[in-house]
Amino acid sequence: MVDKKQRILIPGGAGYIGSHVVLCVLLTRRYKVTVVDNYHNSFPTSIERIEKIALDALPKDASQADRDACKVDLIKGDMRERDTFDRAFAQYKGDDAIYAVILVAALKAVGESGEIPIDYYDVNISGLVNLLRSMKEAKAARLVYSSSATVYGTPKTIPIPETSPLQAESVYGRTKQIGETIIKDTCDAYPDEFRAISLRYFNPAGAHPSGLIGEDPRGKPGNLLPLLAQMAVGKYREPGLQVFGNDYPTPDGTCVRDYIHIMDLAGGHVNALDALSDDSKFAQLPSPGKYKAYNLGKGKGMSVLQMIEAMKKVTGYGYPYKIVGRRKGDVPDLTADPSLAEKELGFKAVHNLEDMSRDLWNWQSKNPQGYGQQ
Ligand code: NAD
Ligand code: WQD
Repeated sequence: MVDKKQRILIPGGAGYIGSHVVLCVLLTRRYKVTVVDNYHNSFPTSIERIEKIALDALPKDASQADRDACKVDLIKGDMRERDTFDRAFAQYKGDDAIYAVILVAALKAVGESGEIPIDYYDVNISGLVNLLRSMKEAKAARLVYSSSATVYGTPKTIPIPETSPLQAESVYGRTKQIGETIIKDTCDAYPDEFRAISLRYFNPAGAHPSGLIGEDPRGKPGNLLPLLAQMAVGKYREPGLQVFGNDYPTPDGTCVRDYIHIMDLAGGHVNALDALSDDSKFAQLPSPGKYKAYNLGKGKGMSVLQMIEAMKKVTGYGYPYKIVGRRKGDVPDLTADPSLAEKELGFKAVHNLEDMSRDLWNWQSKNPQGYGQQ
């Protein structure tokens, strides 16, 4: 039997979410992967480690094709340059042609996005347009797009359904909201060619249970979970943890978020790839659009204090903290209604809070310096 695998292009595959997505895609043993990344916020080491995990997961009698498919093709390139994607598509022909794209690459820091908006629009919007143009020319027009719960701004309904108004409140959020619009318009204009799914991530956290890959932010983490993990290995303990506000309309007064295990989130991309291959799914959509957006969350909200407690249990570190004023831009509650993704994509977040904190700590304690950058 010919062991044929389809090739998936994953711009941003070396980063935190991308590395777990690449791994999940490889573990299906149905796909080959090419990553495009400029390592702006990542290191090629993550790819070497993915290859090791994928190889280790193969049965002893795995075919040579399966072994070869654990090797990730790496193209160093910047998505702001049009030529980057043209080169990637031109590299694979015939049976090996790129079948679908999962666009993970982006700039993603909310605060920074207000300081350097042009860079954010350049990478997140010009980069996306470059990709769509190359996809159209290469006739490889299936796309999974990394969107974010931040497109909902301050939502009125909790849990948040996909039908909530999109009203992003930061430059970063607007790049995601505009990105979704651009993709939808493209699908509407070329219904026989393009089909796409946006995945609105809630708060991804944790790591692959091997502890070989994980989140490795540069400098002091601005996000809660990576900060808690790094404090436990002894970093950033002074001046202590700051909890941004305890006067929110939530059960304990601190903000509630829908933390989802990174392996569940990554698995959602395989569900989305499967849906993109399923003609019956897209035939149901109102004409002409062949575009849909889905929430990827657990559907369960956790407060800042609950997350501190969960990390205390696995790390043994006490996390002395101080309640300080609210952080600009924070909203009280961002909890997903993930039922549409469950129903239409077959997506289900199976890991619980203990799995997430254990796997995060496993990664951080085995890699106190992350991938080793100084
Ligand atoms: P990350 O920074 O770890 O990964 C992004 C990757 O894109 C990195 O490898 C980076 O080097 C690459 N990249 C950046 N600019 C590039 C360019 N010009 N050309 C080529 N590659 C480039 O971030 P992440 O947390 O893995 O986020 C991945 C995606 O998920 C992003 O689109 C982000 O907006 C979205 N997202 C993230 C979160 C989160 O909490 N981490 C939540 C919602 C949505
Ligand atoms: C979680 C909670 C903080 C740090 C961000 C982006 C969002 C998405 C995911 C990309 C909040 C509190 C935090 C600290 C604290 N990314 N906190 N002390 O803000 O929900 O989401 O990442 O799309 O767009 O905004 O995540 O981890 O920063 O904060 O009290 O030192 O922890 O106030 O309530 P957030 P976070």
